[in-house]
Amino acid sequence: MVALARSRRSLPKRDDLSPFAADVLEGLGETPKHIPAKYFYDERGSELFERITEQPEYYPTRCEMQVLRDKATDIAALIPQDAAVVEFGSGSNKKARLLLAAAPHLAAYVPVDISGEMLEREAAELRADFPKLDVLPVVADFCYPFDLPQAARAAPVRVGFFPGSTIGNFEPHEAAAFLRNAAKILGANGKIIIGADLVKPVEVLNAAYNDAAGVTADFNLNLLVRMNRELGGNFRLDCFEHHAFFNRERSRIEMHLASLKRQKVKVAGETFDFRAGETIHTENSYKYSLDSLRALARGVGWLPAGAWTDGQDYFSIQAFTYVEEPGRLRPAE
Ligand code: AVJ
Repeated sequence: MVALARSRRSLPKRDDLSPFAADVLEGLGETPKHIPAKYFYDERGSELFERITEQPEYYPTRCEMQVLRDKATDIAALIPQDAAVVEFGSGSNKKARLLLAAAPHLAAYVPVDISGEMLEREAAELRADFPKLDVLPVVADFCYPFDLPQAARAAPVRVGFFPGSTIGNFEPHEAAAFLRNAAKILGANGKIIIGADLVKPVEVLNAAYNDAAGVTADFNLNLLVRMNRELGGNFRLDCFEHHAFFNRERSRIEMHLASLKRQKVKVAGETFDFRAGETIHTENSYKYSLDSLRALARGVGWLPAGAWTDGQDYFSIQAFTYVEEPGRLRPAE
């Protein structure tokens, strides 16, 4: 009994670890090694991502903004009178702004994000610029069910907004689960407007994730900096290298951190061995076609309601309407 209690005390207790530490220990313990992409976004990581969007090779943000600007009227026409728009993972308000300006008939805007601070700041700006709009931020992880504010529940229809190709960070089965959860949150006759990056020539894709200025490389390597700081790691930045390439078979950009030599690294109280060339898989960014996203959505009850692309067909905004089929959302009885 005593020995058991003692050995338990001396073992790392995964239940007490931060989610970051627990996910790092789990991901580095597996083969191949991996770490969830959401951990890129500490303060420095968010800054670096903003700089990525300004790089000449990184087309997604520019192309999406172009579609939202050029097709705002058509996209807004899809939003019914007095509807509430619910943005999943809102972050910066610059995309919502384009939609809101084109949809004065909207009753409420509900930005949902896990970072409460940013949420309040961005909401205050929108209230100043759209005085007649009810701006109702919700702090939540949108991958799980959450409650909408009363005013959004009372609206005749709720329209989801999920720009930024964040859907591309999900595995296809996770994207389907997200859409199922969105249907639950948005309710009867719900609609959703999704920004999705498109398949395109491999040179264009590879260049976007290997910018000449090395900002994407810094963004990837910053994960090591974050583990060193927050999890007491001893990763050497000069012993790892940024790798990003299009995996055509799975239609995704993969980002990895490749070990330049055989080495041992300590992090979160454990030691991990790296072979020379072994990688930590840090991100997938799935690239869809209009048809492949439609097929995925249709599988979980969302029917196509519109699709818009930029002049080069690099990026798409796609809209869907939820059609409830008897039994689909109900647990089996
Ligand atoms: C924010 C997920 C859309 O996948 O292009 C940019 C993140 N990673 N460069 C993307 C990212 C490397 C970005 N998303």
